[in-house]
Amino acid sequence: MNIANLLEQIAEKGWCVWDDFLTPEAVQQLKACFGENTQQARIGRNENLLSETTIRSDKISWLEPIMGEPVQHYLMQMESIQRAVNREFFLGLFEYEAHFACYEKGAFYKKHLDAFKENASRRLTTVLYLNDEWTEQDGGELKIYDLDDNELATVAPKGGRLVVFLSEQFPHEVLPTNKERISIAGWFRVNGVRDNFLDIAS
Ligand code: OGA
Ligand code: MN
Repeated sequence: MNIANLLEQIAEKGWCVWDDFLTPEAVQQLKACFGENTQQARIGRNENLLSETTIRSDKISWLEPIMGEPVQHYLMQMESIQRAVNREFFLGLFEYEAHFACYEKGAFYKKHLDAFKENASRRLTTVLYLNDEWTEQDGGELKIYDLDDNELATVAPKGGRLVVFLSEQFPHEVLPTNKERISIAGWFRVNGVRDNFLDIAS
């Protein structure tokens, strides 16, 4: 699998699974950057301080380059994908935002779309998994649906696996996990108005 395959699959069906996007060593290094600095996930980035533990129960930490070289490297890889996707599909992706997420035993994220209301500028979703070993009994699969609610795929959160899909077209959910499950969820966004301010390139 490479970027050309990714572009092909996005063009063809709108989603893809890229196994071994990162080596096991790179997975460990990236995971080590996910410090203790987590917070209860909220629905919507700028939502009131209300946490929605009935919809999602993961703990998150937004990626910042200062977290370390592995994070910087990962963000550079996402930049390459952004450039390739923009070249191929003229999506006008403008920036990438991502967070580490830790789902403890029993945690889940009910079926949702990533692009909605205050997240309307999200166009392309990425999810990278950072788990060493994952067996069927561990649960925590990502289920992907189409807009007619047909099930398209059940994806185990295997370390090094990258899932990419169009944010507006694929409702998805995280099934309850039976052990700690670490991922990086990210979104390529188009330029838009947020909090009554126009985004400015940084
Ligand atoms: C999300 C999400 C999926 C996953 O954070 O929006 O859907 O498999 N994550 O972690
Ligand atoms: Mn999601």
